Amino acid sequence: MLAPTTVAALALLSLVGAAPTAHVVEPRATRPDGAAGRAPHQPYQHGYNASGIKAWSADADPQARYLRSRVPLAARISPLAATQANPSLSPAVKVVDLALDYDGSFFTSFKYADDFSRRVSTGWSYVDLYGSWHGMPVAGSSESTPEHGVVNLPNPGWTDAAHRNGAKSLGCWFWPRKGVFGDYLEQKADGSFPVADNLVAMMKYFGFDGYFFNQEASISSSDAAKLLLFVQYLRKIAPVIELQWYDAVLPSGQLSYQNTVNSRNAPWLLSGGKRGVSSIFVNYWLGSAAQIDTSVATTTGLGLDPHGVVFQGTECEKYGFNPAYDPRIFLPESAPHRISWGLFGSHFTWRGYANPDSSALADVQAVAKRERQYWSGPNSDPSRTGRTTYVPYVDTGVGQSQDDATKWDGVAHYIVEKSVIGGWPFVTRFNTGKGQSWFRAGVATKGEWNNIGVQDLLPTWQFWGNATAEYDYEVAFDGGSSLKVTSGGTLKLYKTNLVVGGGESVRLVLAGSAAVEVGFADASGTYTFLPAASTWTSTAIGSTWKSYTTTLSALKGKTISAIALRFASGTTNVGELALVSGPPAAPATPSGFKIDNTYPASSGTSAEVFLSWALDSAVWYYDIVVNGAVVGRMYDEVYYLKNVPKGAVVTLEAVARDGARSAAASVTV
Ligand SMILES: *[C@@H]1O[C@H](CO)[C@@H](O)[C@H](O)[C@H]1NC(C)=O
Ligand SMILES: *[C@@H]1O[C@H](CO)[C@@H](O)[C@H](O)[C@H]1NC(C)=O
Repeated sequence: MLAPTTVAALALLSLVGAAPTAHVVEPRATRPDGAAGRAPHQPYQHGYNASGIKAWSADADPQARYLRSRVPLAARISPLAATQANPSLSPAVKVVDLALDYDGSFFTSFKYADDFSRRVSTGWSYVDLYGSWHGMPVAGSSESTPEHGVVNLPNPGWTDAAHRNGAKSLGCWFWPRKGVFGDYLEQKADGSFPVADNLVAMMKYFGFDGYFFNQEASISSSDAAKLLLFVQYLRKIAPVIELQWYDAVLPSGQLSYQNTVNSRNAPWLLSGGKRGVSSIFVNYWLGSAAQIDTSVATTTGLGLDPHGVVFQGTECEKYGFNPAYDPRIFLPESAPHRISWGLFGSHFTWRGYANPDSSALADVQAVAKRERQYWSGPNSDPSRTGRTTYVPYVDTGVGQSQDDATKWDGVAHYIVEKSVIGGWPFVTRFNTGKGQSWFRAGVATKGEWNNIGVQDLLPTWQFWGNATAEYDYEVAFDGGSSLKVTSGGTLKLYKTNLVVGGGESVRLVLAGSAAVEVGFADASGTYTFLPAASTWTSTAIGSTWKSYTTTLSALKGKTISAIALRFASGTTNVGELALVSGPPAAPATPSGFKIDNTYPASSGTSAEVFLSWALDSAVWYYDIVVNGAVVGRMYDEVYYLKNVPKGAVVTLEAVARDGARSAAASVTV
């Protein structure tokens, strides 16, 4: 992750440890960024320099309230080898996914927006830590010559999605930037570091879990010594903070990639008996497995678990599906995996595509295919992972065949899938968190949108089985997409840990004529299929969809460890899969719903509108409805609407985790 100006020099030094990519100036979207790309009062994220961090308070930043993540970190269920796509893999191996959110734009970094083309990650079941790779200009920066902050916070929508899936979300610290580094290290007489204090305050307010430190320029030895105290201080004041360190600057202040964890960089982890950072993202250059031996020996020697503290890096931003250093060197196919994995640049699935800014369905589906291949391997099936054509090559610092998925094993080749589905109810509509319409009960309101924060729990495996599947953005039941299956066959969809008490039921909302059966796996991974949905109690919903329900009383006392669907030939859309423990229980009508502010457009016929209400933690999410049409969804107590017609009735409906909907609270603009 180097500044472009130094990449060439370091590439020449690649034998001594070299050249990852990165940018002081991160890539940005080609769609209008800056004032042209947003409404005048639309909240967007910015970066922070030393004075910005020290001066930060939620009250002093009028946009802060609209840029929080409120979704708590979900607990993950225990691993179960019998249901794994690859039972021989160890669940101890972790993944950090250091990647752009949406599009990485500088002045239009929204929590949610009106553009179908933006990337949403679909690989959460393999990710333990999401790190935000997104340099951001400071508040008030010029748009023509952006002045980046050292710190950017993770996009709150991405934190919402990470948390729903049990993954932590990290902001990013990047140096070198403009300014004096010592300003970040001011220490008061009482030993406190004002920047560290506010990094923790911001983390708590904005609802994320820690920071990725990319300290990538030499600093003075006295600054480096203070920086070590600074990270140890962060650890002390926020013991559970997640701090990941990029293997770049040493505790001496010298920029020197070690490409391993050794006695030179390990003090960032532990020094003088004090823990500092949680883990190290090891630089990419990898000559031999001996570097892994060193990482393991160093960290075990310190009494640390190598799986928890060593993340060996793979550079995907530049190299895409064809990384210069074979992941099998550190995740061998026939020996235990001793350390964890650092992925940099999974966003190449979107950004490296020929036409990433296109909202045309064919382009969005082409990116979706790259996403599936990235996580699940060239066959888009986590049970059939593994490259078919990879050939080792000499790294010249330039990507080669980076769009050729046959060279990539798939993250699932090495990493055990994880799930948070450990209790009732569990409801999914296969909503990826973007769309060309908003659907409710199958009725579409046209309009592009993205909001990964309301992405449903997507299938644990995308897609495991012999039925052909993709997300369908033209036919959906609720949200932006549904699961479309265009052949006969079986799909193993979700890993779960659901104990059946006897009163539960399963609901499927289907479109199409194909017979669908639902199957539940026991602890041995053996599936038992219920009679086809066509034999269950059913209700038509509009002309396209039908809801089918049946009891799970026959499974009383059993544990459901995975869910599959089996399809007869033909095309079927699955609009909803729901496992519920009782009759629908609608939440209370939202309280305190009001308009906080309106800003009329110059036309005088519409306005930007800021809404708020009282957040109820029992609610799954709130739908925002304008003149009867769903226009947004959020788990929060505030919402910004970009363009509401004068006189419109805006309603707010709370939806419970079982899918039951409250009565509407309403306001008139
Ligand atoms: C730091 O950021 C603030 C905005 O928070 C900006 O006004 C100021 O110019 C920046 N200062 C420096 C020294 O770059
Ligand atoms: C799918 O695989 C199952 C075995 O897992 C097999 O019984 C079935 O015939 C296959 N279906 C199709 C349509 O290939």
